[in-house]
Amino acid sequence: MGGSFLAPLPNPPEPLPMVPGPKLAPFTRTAHAAIEFIEELGNPNQDMDGLVWKVKIGGKEPYYALKMFLFTSTEYLMKDLGIDLIWRLASAQLYSDYFDPFHCECRVYGRLKQEGREDLAARAHGYLFLTPQQAAEVEERSGRPKFSQEEYEQDGTDFWGRDTEHRHLSVRAIVKELVSADDPFTPEDVPQIWNDFEDLHKLGILVRDINTFNYMGGKIIDFSRAWTTPHPFPAGMDDYTIKRALKSEPLKLQKAFIEWGLSRDWDWDIIPEEMLQCTRGLGQDGPYGTNPSFYDWWKWEKDPDAAEAFMNCIWEDGGNEPHSEG
Ligand SMILES: Nc1ncnc2c1ncn2[C@@H]1O[C@H](COP(=O)(O)OP(=O)(O)OP(=O)(O)O)[C@@H](O)[C@H]1O
Ligand SMILES: [Mg+2]
Repeated sequence: MGGSFLAPLPNPPEPLPMVPGPKLAPFTRTAHAAIEFIEELGNPNQDMDGLVWKVKIGGKEPYYALKMFLFTSTEYLMKDLGIDLIWRLASAQLYSDYFDPFHCECRVYGRLKQEGREDLAARAHGYLFLTPQQAAEVEERSGRPKFSQEEYEQDGTDFWGRDTEHRHLSVRAIVKELVSADDPFTPEDVPQIWNDFEDLHKLGILVRDINTFNYMGGKIIDFSRAWTTPHPFPAGMDDYTIKRALKSEPLKLQKAFIEWGLSRDWDWDIIPEEMLQCTRGLGQDGPYGTNPSFYDWWKWEKDPDAAEAFMNCIWEDGGNEPHSEG
């Protein structure tokens, strides 16, 4: 694969990722801030892509939720998160731009801001880079297993999943609204969640990680697997895989409702119609709902032709080589 090096983080910081389509701006001009780490949120043994802490920034309230992302290797992005592509992307950087959890979230929040629909999720306010001292403090205080120097030398990846290809990169984080609700959702939230979900698809966002733990107070809090149009997926996938991806979204939402509802003794006699639609996978635009790849993303581009040309050149060998080596 050409270009196996990940680009350094831009200085001064720019909206990320630096590919056509939506981007998230830095939270401060420098993308650095004084952060007071109050406590770790979530379950350190269960959450995979990041560490989330309640924080205070710049010594002032409000409190925020700061999601700090682990690094992902190019191999993992190619062979796991990006495996459904028929052709290979032309560089390691492109795998990172489109499949790395931090970039996936940046692209979703950028789109919600473009469209004035930040109500569709717990809000994100911008990204930050941690200083080495801040990263060391989180590592020291986290409930996650720590790495000894020996393990680090053997394995080559540190606490943050940082491998040789990421050595030059700071830990990346997104500043989010701190949600205090304990429950992911209540029966009253079901119609709104279903509508929000359809709206996300209409805005070109395929969430791809629908489960109970990724909702709080009736809103989605985690977009680390999301694909936001423009994205390699529609051009680089066969029709069957796209349909399967579209159909699995409402089914996973239904499963989340049922699992949580059973654990909370919901009265299933008054479950709203939206839940049934969800069960059948029926979107407003037919059996698979709205296809996110039909979203008109060009309308936001200053130079739509250049953006289109970029998207046509993301494939290795112009898309003639199959992705999988078996
Ligand atoms: N905005 C928020 N407000 C309060 N708590 C949050 C917020 N975002 C995340 N959390 C807590 O942190 C946990 C992990 O967050 P999140 O789901 O975003 O990361 P993750 O699970 O590591 O990612 P993934 O699910 O892709 O592995 C959540 O389950 C929740 O308990
Ligand atoms: Mg999660």
